[in-house]
Amino acid sequence: MSAGRCICMPSLVAAAACALLALGGAAPAQTSKRSATELMDAVMWNREPIGGPFQLTDQSGNVRSERDFRGHLLLVYFGFTYCPDICPTDLQAIGLAMDRLGAGAGDVQPLFITLDPERDTREHLADYVAMFHPRLLGLTGSAEAVRNAADAYRVYYKRVDFGKGDYTVDHSAFIYLMDRDGKYLGFFPPGTPAEKMVEMIRPHLAGSPSR
Ligand code: NI
Repeated sequence: MSAGRCICMPSLVAAAACALLALGGAAPAQTSKRSATELMDAVMWNREPIGGPFQLTDQSGNVRSERDFRGHLLLVYFGFTYCPDICPTDLQAIGLAMDRLGAGAGDVQPLFITLDPERDTREHLADYVAMFHPRLLGLTGSAEAVRNAADAYRVYYKRVDFGKGDYTVDHSAFIYLMDRDGKYLGFFPPGTPAEKMVEMIRPHLAGSPSR
């Protein structure tokens, strides 16, 4: 796998589900305007600011913007629920890191922002995020709202059609750490173990001697 890039193939179940959804009509564009290389360079070499305003809806139907999370460290991850491999692995690590932070986890809000709003409805996200951690928020919205959020975090994503309405989403899979004011602290590459995340997050927790 190339750094930060997750090429996700849908499972048979997902393929069956999207064959049904395909009857719903033309799909909105689910693709970054910029190339994978350009966006991955922007993140990996810290060439551009990361983060910014977004307005999305969580799995309970609440409208959420980045301002709602001021005062918390944010772990921000973009992906899609039909991703069979990288997304669930990273979300599992995020859930495990939350557990290992103990009381400190109250300081941290993990977010999963879908890059596939067409299939990832809030009902679907509710079932999905619950598998990883009770505090994990799943966010979705219009194709445009998702695009704006993804652009702000320099996320590459591209819808890849298999025909007959079946598709997957190729996407970059960095895990972003934001501070209490919404400022970017850094990223974890895909596959980062929970222990490593905990080690990097701890110094930023409230009450940490290094703060
Ligand atoms: Ni993925």
